[in-house]
Amino acid sequence: MSAGPLRLAVLVSGSGTNLQALLDGVAGGDAPFSVVVVGADRDGTGGAERAEGAGIPTFVCPVADFDARSEWDAALARLLAEHAPDLVVSAGFMKVLGPAVLDAFRVVNTHPALLPSFPGAHGVRDALAHGVRVTGCTCHWVDAGVDTGPIIDQRAVRVEDGDDVGSLHERIKVEERAMLVEVLTALARDRSWR
Ligand code: GAR
Repeated sequence: MSAGPLRLAVLVSGSGTNLQALLDGVAGGDAPFSVVVVGADRDGTGGAERAEGAGIPTFVCPVADFDARSEWDAALARLLAEHAPDLVVSAGFMKVLGPAVLDAFRVVNTHPALLPSFPGAHGVRDALAHGVRVTGCTCHWVDAGVDTGPIIDQRAVRVEDGDDVGSLHERIKVEERAMLVEVLTALARDRSWR
């Protein structure tokens, strides 16, 4: 049996509002998980700033610092391992993870579209361009593909007349943050996936 909160390592590339939802859950006192480290692939992310504000260790691991993608992957795996996470959460991390990370850790990703539709870096833009009337967000296990792993949960969001990428993404993110907290709470309570 697992004891104590589920130890999360959170990977970010941007503003970190999904991370913030997790931190708010922890600060509220009843979350069955903790955030033990936040990693970014670039300097100056809002996500790292939020982590530092909450007193959580951070690291930055840019792909450009390495001669080969495999070296970056191995370095990222080592940095994560230093904090012994039970689970890695890709929360707006805009890099495809490699085998060193995926062999060492279970990884959950959140994506701003209803997979398997509109995978990749521009899920909101691509859904809007296609003209769908309903899109949303997906939380899934990460495998070696791009947004192809088993789906854990999804939330639907209607596309409104006049939506642009920004307005639609903001409404998706409201649902996404709630979904992510609920998914991680469930994974922390039932650890049969380990
Ligand atoms: C989220 O909507 C997340 O799904 C998306 O980036 C946003 C990050 O927001 N990720 C992807 O598009 C990955 N393909 P945040 O930095 O405010 O949490």
